[in-house]
Amino acid sequence: MSEPLLDVQGLKVYFSNPATRLFSAHDAIKAVDGVSFQIAPGEVLSLVGESGCGKTTVGRVLTRLEKATAGRVSFSGHDMLDMSQHEFRPLRRHIQMIFQDPFASLNPRLTIEQTLQEPLMIHKLAHNRAEARRLVVDMLEKVGMGADVLGRFPHEFSGGQRQRIGIARAMIVKPQLIIADEPVSALDVSIQAQVLNLLKRLQAESGVAMLFISHDLAVVRHISNRIAVMHEGRIVELAQKTRLFEQPEHDYTQRLLKAIPRIPTSLGA
Ligand SMILES: Nc1ncnc2c1ncn2[C@@H]1O[C@H](COP(=O)(O)OP(=O)(O)O)[C@@H](O)[C@H]1O
Ligand SMILES: [Mg+2]
Repeated sequence: MSEPLLDVQGLKVYFSNPATRLFSAHDAIKAVDGVSFQIAPGEVLSLVGESGCGKTTVGRVLTRLEKATAGRVSFSGHDMLDMSQHEFRPLRRHIQMIFQDPFASLNPRLTIEQTLQEPLMIHKLAHNRAEARRLVVDMLEKVGMGADVLGRFPHEFSGGQRQRIGIARAMIVKPQLIIADEPVSALDVSIQAQVLNLLKRLQAESGVAMLFISHDLAVVRHISNRIAVMHEGRIVELAQKTRLFEQPEHDYTQRLLKAIPRIPTSLGA
């Protein structure tokens, strides 16, 4: 691999056990228990495994919402976990999140224009209102929406449209890495393929790298370059997508593959 954009080495995240409130090695909840992977610039790596295996916790460490118990994360050559908030500030723009539930992550009191303007202002990517509006309208167009939505509020949209807005908000600052945590899992199956196709197209056009988190192998097939299969806090297999689907090596990967119904052609690779 060329110089990785993201390099995660030996990441562990332990939580104290709520039942005993003990944090001893024996009693702790080992949500993430020694995970290593790299993402190249422009690459899409998917992290797949059943609910509770630690996927979201990995994503939260990468956005510094969660502290690591052990391990190293380097982003663009910077040791990310040791930085102060102040040191991290210039990198923050370059690591954006897309969440499962865009309704929960969009501020209900902000119009769509305000929602998309805010990150531009925070990161000083627009010099004035007119420029900000132009960038917002351009971005809306890329996610298939028009200037007519600028003054509307999140509750006026369907789940699929809200996720388009969530994608626009993440993309508008031109980040280097997007962490998408189950971005289509809350959507109707009929809408999932549309949103996935949009995400894939924008990713390819912009060249942003992505960590795509999902419990569903069928969903990640479409979008991934490589896939990491996670089980009980560890990555049990990491391979190019084609190899993983055609010759899964680990028992657990084989079980996950057997669990997917026939992949709808609309989601096929
Ligand atoms: N803040 C927390 N305190 C205690 N346990 C947690 C916390 N966050 C997550 N966990 C536990 O860590 C494990 C992994 O959770 P999570 O990363 O959300 O998994 P996934 O996203 O794969 O479903 C689960 O057992 C979960 O209950
Ligand atoms: Mg999760």
